[in-house]
Amino acid sequence: MIQFLLNDQLTSIDSERADLTLLNYLRDNVALTGTKEGCASGDCGACTVVIAEASQSGQSSDTENPLSYKAINSCVTFLSALQGKQVITVEQLQTGKALHPVQQAMVDANATQCGFCTPGFVMSIFALYQQNEPVNRADVITALSGNLCRCTGYKPIIAAAITACHAERDLADMQQRREVANQLNAININAENSTDNLCLPRTRQQLASFIKQYPNALLVAGSTDLALEHTQQLKPLKKLISLSYVDGLKRASQQNNTLSIGSACTLGDIQALMLEHFPSLHEIIERFASVPIRNQATLGGNIAGASPIGDMAPVLIALNASVILDNGASTRTVVLREFFTAYRQTQLSQGEWIHSIEIPLLKPNQHLVAYKISKRFEDDISAVCMALNLTLDQGVVTRLSTGFGGVAATPAFCADLEQEIVGKIWKKSECVDAGKQILTSAFTPIDDVRATAEYRIQMLENLWHRFWLETNAQDNAIATRVIQDA
Ligand SMILES: Cc1cc2nc3c(=O)[nH]c(=O)nc-3n(C[C@H](O)[C@H](O)[C@H](O)COP(=O)(O)OP(=O)(O)OC[C@H]3O[C@@H](n4cnc5c(N)ncnc54)[C@H](O)[C@@H]3O)c2cc1C
Ligand code: FES
Ligand code: FES
Repeated sequence: MIQFLLNDQLTSIDSERADLTLLNYLRDNVALTGTKEGCASGDCGACTVVIAEASQSGQSSDTENPLSYKAINSCVTFLSALQGKQVITVEQLQTGKALHPVQQAMVDANATQCGFCTPGFVMSIFALYQQNEPVNRADVITALSGNLCRCTGYKPIIAAAITACHAERDLADMQQRREVANQLNAININAENSTDNLCLPRTRQQLASFIKQYPNALLVAGSTDLALEHTQQLKPLKKLISLSYVDGLKRASQQNNTLSIGSACTLGDIQALMLEHFPSLHEIIERFASVPIRNQATLGGNIAGASPIGDMAPVLIALNASVILDNGASTRTVVLREFFTAYRQTQLSQGEWIHSIEIPLLKPNQHLVAYKISKRFEDDISAVCMALNLTLDQGVVTRLSTGFGGVAATPAFCADLEQEIVGKIWKKSECVDAGKQILTSAFTPIDDVRATAEYRIQMLENLWHRFWLETNAQDNAIATRVIQDA
């Protein structure tokens, strides 16, 4: 039985279709129709709801926020994701006749016209409001990265969000949050977790046993890829095994010079850790989908899906990362650049799952970049992605690791480029010329709705040139500073 709070109602699910989305459950089963369906693919934000989870410590101090709040897209969420959580829909916000401060600010700023997108915007802003932290315009724009409005325009919506997030908070709210956290903790302890069609294992042994018992069941993590098979391709998904509650899969840690990231960690969970160690990845991580998708999408799901246009595989290939594969009895390590075998095929065997991703940390003489070319700045998949990790010793290239997306049937690297450049003086223009020449013919990309093959090849050349200019400009800036300091 899956148990969660739906607003303030304890809700139990014994037997439901595995592929019932939270959006359809809300609208069709319990008539909470304030949550809207726009695209059913995570792109528009009309279906945004907020998930509250009890803080990890279990015990919260008087000042600590006992719940964490995250906006998610209910159209790409299955009920398996809800165990022990609170789902907050737009219906919950109003108290009696009084609008919530976020709703009131939207009214006051004339931030709505047809109103179809409004509940989604309100819920994204509500998630930000609930964090009880000072916010600026950039924070608001990030929080709204998954919401589209086709008639009002964003200016009044952003103004409303800033006003709401600066409003004085109701102190009684903290007491209510503690009560909700206690209810959620009670669910986690007492509930028996699986239903007819949704298996929620807690240990690797249980996970292995479910996979053995139901060989046709699909593994699900954040469901942001898998749900589309149902909502867009109308495939029935009869039985799902969730990775979200398995011990160790949601843990991220640093051991010696390696980051170890559990496969079920979401992009949102690991964003701060990744940026602490790899600050140059800020653009690619912040442009990975939208906040609601990053709150669900896992690193393991991004790699296991083996999409040739996924963003993290090229980056992790360039970082020389490995994946740890598990089958419940033993584990094995596979270097990521050897993991992808054909279009959407990997080295995962029947009964195996990705346990974690191991990423070596950078040394001071390594330069890492990741470039993403897409049509929409936020919430869009790459047309081309390029990640480069260059090691220099006194200006001479000692190693280059590459990663590419959007140019082959799998996430790729370019061995010819990696070999050609080693031993060369990076400043010399022969590096940029040789790289461009190799990249012109290294891949045979396809034409599709995102870009033509010709455009993709041109992008490879341009991005390589940009990398050469940027790294040399950085070195020149450092050299100039050293001369000035001296
Ligand atoms: C609107 C939208 C925008 C997006 N934007 C981007 C983007 O900018 N960049 C990008 O790269 N992707 C993007 N995606 C794709 C998607 O969000 C990512 O690929 C995400 O990381 C998938 O993770 P998940 O946890 O949701 O996977 P799921 O959907 O749960 O699973 C995907 C597949 O992987 C398998 N799987 C999951 N975890 C494991 C595991 N640990 N071991 C073995 N198999 C596993 C599942 O069985 C399934 O086949 C976007 C998706 C949407 C809907
Ligand atoms: S309906 Fe468009 S994001 Fe869910
Ligand atoms: S108010 Fe009509 S789409 Fe936003």
